[in-house]
Amino acid sequence: MENRYFESILVTGGCGFIGANFIRHLLEGGHYDGRVVNIDKLTYAGNLENLAGIADRFEGRYHFVHGDICDGDLVGSIMEKHAIDAFCHFAAESHVDRSIAGPGAFVETNVNGTFALLEAARERSDKIKLFHHVSTDEVYGSLGNEGYFTEETAYDPSSPYSASKAASDHLMRAYHRTYGLPVTISNCSNNYGPYQFPEKLIPLMILNALDSKPLPVYGQGKNVRDWLYVEDHCHAIWQIMTHGRTGQTYNVGGRCEKTNLNVVESICDILEKIPGDSGRGEKRSLIQFVKDRPGHDHRYAINCDFIERELGWSPTVSFDQGLAKTIFWYMENQDWVRNVKSGDYRNWISQHYGKDRK
Ligand code: NAD
Ligand code: TYD
Repeated sequence: MENRYFESILVTGGCGFIGANFIRHLLEGGHYDGRVVNIDKLTYAGNLENLAGIADRFEGRYHFVHGDICDGDLVGSIMEKHAIDAFCHFAAESHVDRSIAGPGAFVETNVNGTFALLEAARERSDKIKLFHHVSTDEVYGSLGNEGYFTEETAYDPSSPYSASKAASDHLMRAYHRTYGLPVTISNCSNNYGPYQFPEKLIPLMILNALDSKPLPVYGQGKNVRDWLYVEDHCHAIWQIMTHGRTGQTYNVGGRCEKTNLNVVESICDILEKIPGDSGRGEKRSLIQFVKDRPGHDHRYAINCDFIERELGWSPTVSFDQGLAKTIFWYMENQDWVRNVKSGDYRNWISQHYGKDRK
């Protein structure tokens, strides 16, 4: 097993959901004692509040750069200035529904942005110990009721989002095989936890249910996703970065398949058990079945035996625990919720979802 040490990691998209949790995991969790540089464009999904307090508490070890990963010159200058020796690449347009409404930004950031980072890394490859790329199980397409995605499953993406992530994965492998760049890739299932932008299923349903607003379930709610608590994911990424084999893909999953309806009902049931306002009323009666997403993948399910065997990682947070923690986090962070909701999110939802998808 490898045992890498990094002095200065360039995290891309660190103001987003998983990136912010990852930076907190490294610094607050005490897993790493070097420097973190975070480049983020601060799109609608990027939020400086996700890392509130980090710059002060880790002065000299944490630096934020407001910038676009597509800007290769900027990335190159950051690498020089901060003596970057590793990348952890999260920055992306990440929401399937948005990719259906407007795929251009997905190709730009997810494909061209990844390409720009790889070129900057290739130009300084003697300095780079590792380039880790965070990808998704959606590159594998849709499963029927049986079977699992493994690291050998052929790519078959359905949405512009997953197609753009598939393209970025291919670039990563090509740079490893062609130029010998030391890369690792992780393809993980659906994450949930604190700081997730409330356009994704779990935070959207939590906030709507708390406000007694409709809970829009696409189609019949029978689509299946595998749910991974974000802290478990962060731990997996760090295991891969420090101990993984270069050129290798690792599938990361929660061993936790649920239908969407089941997830929404679980949120309702937890909220109803909480005394006080949040528990008021019949939350399940807010569920509304709405028009299905075009090209909606039926089922995602990950076989994560390989990472368990190779790196000793397996998910530790059960869905019940993780969901309760997540619900309490959203309830306790009302300022964060208010600020996020007053931004672009509300405009976008009404523009693209119309009346039947609130
Ligand atoms: P997110 O949408 O919450 O955050 C994305 C971040 O990237 C934001 O801070 C945004 O400002 C930044 N960004 C976007 N375009 C940029 C650009 N051109 N330059 C610099 N920064 C830019 O996403 P997330 O849910 O945290 O996902 C992070 C990564 O993990 C993505 O690559 C995504 O494909 C992957 N992933 C996510 C999930 C999930 O369930 N959320 C599952 C599997 C894989
Ligand atoms: P989402 O959180 O968008 O993640 P992904 O599309 O990457 O899996 O959606 C998770 C599942 O929930 C997906 O099958 C679509 C469904 N969904 C709804 O039923 N209603 C909603 O309002 C949203 C956002 C998603």
